[in-house]
Amino acid sequence: MAEYGTDKGLSEALKVGVMVVNTKGERLWWNTLAETFLGKSINNLKIDTEVLFKLPHYNPAHLAKQDKTIFAKSPVHDEQHLSIDTRPYGNDTYLVIINNITPKIRVEQMRRDFVANISHELRTPLTVIRGYLELLQEYKDFENAQTEKVLVQMDEHTSRMQHLVEDLLTLSRLESDKSTHAEKQSVDVPKLLLDIKQQAIALSGERAHKIELHVDDNIQLLGSEKELHSAFSNIIFNAINYTPAGNAIEIIWKLDKQEPCLYVKDSGIGIDAEHIPRLTERFYRVDKARDEASGGTGLGLAITKHVLLRHEAELQVTSKLGKGSTFSCCFPRDRMHRLLSNPA
Ligand SMILES: Nc1ncnc2c1ncn2[C@@H]1O[C@H](COP(=O)(O)OP(=O)(O)OP(=O)(O)O)[C@@H](O)[C@H]1O
Ligand SMILES: [Mg+2]
Repeated sequence: MAEYGTDKGLSEALKVGVMVVNTKGERLWWNTLAETFLGKSINNLKIDTEVLFKLPHYNPAHLAKQDKTIFAKSPVHDEQHLSIDTRPYGNDTYLVIINNITPKIRVEQMRRDFVANISHELRTPLTVIRGYLELLQEYKDFENAQTEKVLVQMDEHTSRMQHLVEDLLTLSRLESDKSTHAEKQSVDVPKLLLDIKQQAIALSGERAHKIELHVDDNIQLLGSEKELHSAFSNIIFNAINYTPAGNAIEIIWKLDKQEPCLYVKDSGIGIDAEHIPRLTERFYRVDKARDEASGGTGLGLAITKHVLLRHEAELQVTSKLGKGSTFSCCFPRDRMHRLLSNPA
């Protein structure tokens, strides 16, 4: 133990919890703050994070390799939120650095509440304004053509604001849902995709994209139909919006390495590699001026990311500028629900 704690003064002066653990996660050395944060045992951490739900318990070797931060509640102070980083340190030992991120979490919660409240408050006045605008347009006794044009534009912008408010509300509902995992209702994905395809044809309209759908009719999912509809339609409608008229879009639902996967391949404008990691940020758009024309709000993929995480899936994007993009996601096997009576 002495070799780790030679400069006791230094480790105690740090404002972070530090400890050294072996491959089994047993503590070899630690400073006082680490014990304050974690108590006597680190193995009973209440892990409530997105990145860790596949890990049955804290595994330092695995974590150090993946270079991932765990977010967990302190097992001894329920109101305390911690971030835990694990780094290789010595032979088969690991350095664990623990930060108290409770103030950050509180600010984040305040931001979420603020956005949720304001979106909620904006909903009713917008519905009223939109209603009056529709009524005014019906009268049709405008004194001049200019008035009609103004009303049409007001209606378009109000509709856009309504869209934005609804997306913000969906996002805050997903973020504030206490359960990190989506429910496990049986969802008929082939039928869902067929419905979305019809909506995509309507969205494409005169642009007449060639939309192909290839689905394995036997594969269903255990999840939330509403959430999956929102995630899948976001990806598919993007393919329409960012692909030139007449080009092909392919939607595939099949088993890949035993996991049910969705692939949406377009032959559109593509996305430069530097933008790909940021696509799921709220309001992120590759080209503000160009994307404005698509009438979107930049929240679609943020919603998609949340929904997929709640279904233990992750959004993957590959793209080539000017050639097209593929958006895909694979779900864990235990969310698969087969229709066949004797599954292969
Ligand atoms: N298939 C695609 N091809 C090219 N660019 C894409 C594609 N899908 C998304 N993007 C880019 O990613 C950005 C973010 O997409 P996202 O769906 O989040 O927002 P949006 O489509 O602009 O608006 P909305 O909130 O209405 O969906 C888009 O603005 C666009 O620049
Ligand atoms: Mg979109």
